[in-house]
Amino acid sequence: MTVDLVLKDLKAYIDGAVQECCIAVENGTVHKVGKEAQMPKADTVLSLNGLLVLPGLIDVHVHLRDEGKAYKEDFYTGTAAAAAGGFTTVLDMPNNTPVTMSVETLENRMANARGKILVNVGFYSEFPKDPREIEKIIAGGAVAFKLYLGEQVGGLNIDDDHALKYAFKTVASRVPIAVHAEDKNMLKRMEEELKGKGRNDIEAFLEAHSERAEASAVRRLVKIAEKTSAKVHFCHISTKQGLEIIHKAKEKGLALTCEVTPHHLFLSVDDLKRVGTVALTAPPLRDKSHVDFLWKSLKNGLIDVVGSDHAPHTLAEKSAASVWEVKVGIPGLETTLPLMLTAVNSGALSLGDVVRMLAENPARVFKLKGRGAIKEGGKADFVAVDMGEEYCIDASKFHSKAKFSPFNGKRVKGKPVKTFVAGQLVVDRGEIVAEAGCGKIILGEG
Ligand code: DOR
Ligand code: ZN
Ligand code: ZN
Repeated sequence: MTVDLVLKDLKAYIDGAVQECCIAVENGTVHKVGKEAQMPKADTVLSLNGLLVLPGLIDVHVHLRDEGKAYKEDFYTGTAAAAAGGFTTVLDMPNNTPVTMSVETLENRMANARGKILVNVGFYSEFPKDPREIEKIIAGGAVAFKLYLGEQVGGLNIDDDHALKYAFKTVASRVPIAVHAEDKNMLKRMEEELKGKGRNDIEAFLEAHSERAEASAVRRLVKIAEKTSAKVHFCHISTKQGLEIIHKAKEKGLALTCEVTPHHLFLSVDDLKRVGTVALTAPPLRDKSHVDFLWKSLKNGLIDVVGSDHAPHTLAEKSAASVWEVKVGIPGLETTLPLMLTAVNSGALSLGDVVRMLAENPARVFKLKGRGAIKEGGKADFVAVDMGEEYCIDASKFHSKAKFSPFNGKRVKGKPVKTFVAGQLVVDRGEIVAEAGCGKIILGEG
């Protein structure tokens, strides 16, 4: 038999170890992993000159925007950023214009994305006003639901615990429910108070988006999760308190998972003060004691997923005169893997940690079949990295429309060099080499 592609002269992370091997790809899936002599004939044989091949990364927390927010990012630029950053699958958040919270908005978004995407994309939905719509949204292929507790985004009244419980019971364990855990009422109360005092500075933003606001929302959601059989995924946990509540609930046997972002791991409030509003995000960067706790938890295996929370905005939106008007969020797709590989090179993380939190666990938690590991019969989604390449992050070269980063100028070691989606080379040394539309839309199997 003749397969589509054989990759040779490489090392690959397979079953918890790095091994020298070749990979044969047929029809978008891994046909065989083995020695060169075991490889079938192939239409194309590509030497990777010793690069390290990892499973294609999965980012479960991405704001691709497009539609009414296409001026910030669109399906092409967002997925180009993903591919350049080593991600072969991303899950798209629903706080769009219009908000994704019905079968119609979901289907429109899929139709819009289809011809533009360079990597695989699954879609979140916010909760609809009418809970009877939940069923239809799951049937429509949403991969997960997203619940914003920091502000009212979807149709479900976030102040109403009964409505939340009802919605969670309806979803049950069919698809995960990802939560932005900040307590809206605490945020608003503090924000009004601070605005009343004429406060308009970064410190004031930090006071409003307090550690307590995160802990309060996490505590509330754990209680709701306890009374339902929902699988709650906590997005971008930034505080020691938040993590501790989640750890305790997990120990009690609740089906919870949690995520941290690279910006909460690699930056602290000191960087926010140094860089300014470009680094403003919600939840905000925290002081070093929280950062240390995130790292400790991560090393202890208590963090399930690293998600970039890629949240592109224009530079004008990031530099509004009033801190309350600044759009919060950081583009992260093109910095996440270089930062994580730098941590591997310095010994702060193992390669296994990176693969676990950026491929294996995302695939398991969000039920993305055939993804997250290199194995025969699985998807041929890979990123080939050069662990030895040192360079400085240059946000002006991002494929994202958001050409800024709090990591701009930072020296890193470890670079994504080639990204393959379903066996097709999509990015080669930073250059997009595939046609728009080569990514697939992933439907949830709830
Ligand atoms: O920093 C953030 N950016 N936090 C959010 O909750 C929303 C996100 C965005 O969409 O920009
Ligand atoms: Zn969020
Ligand atoms: Zn987000």
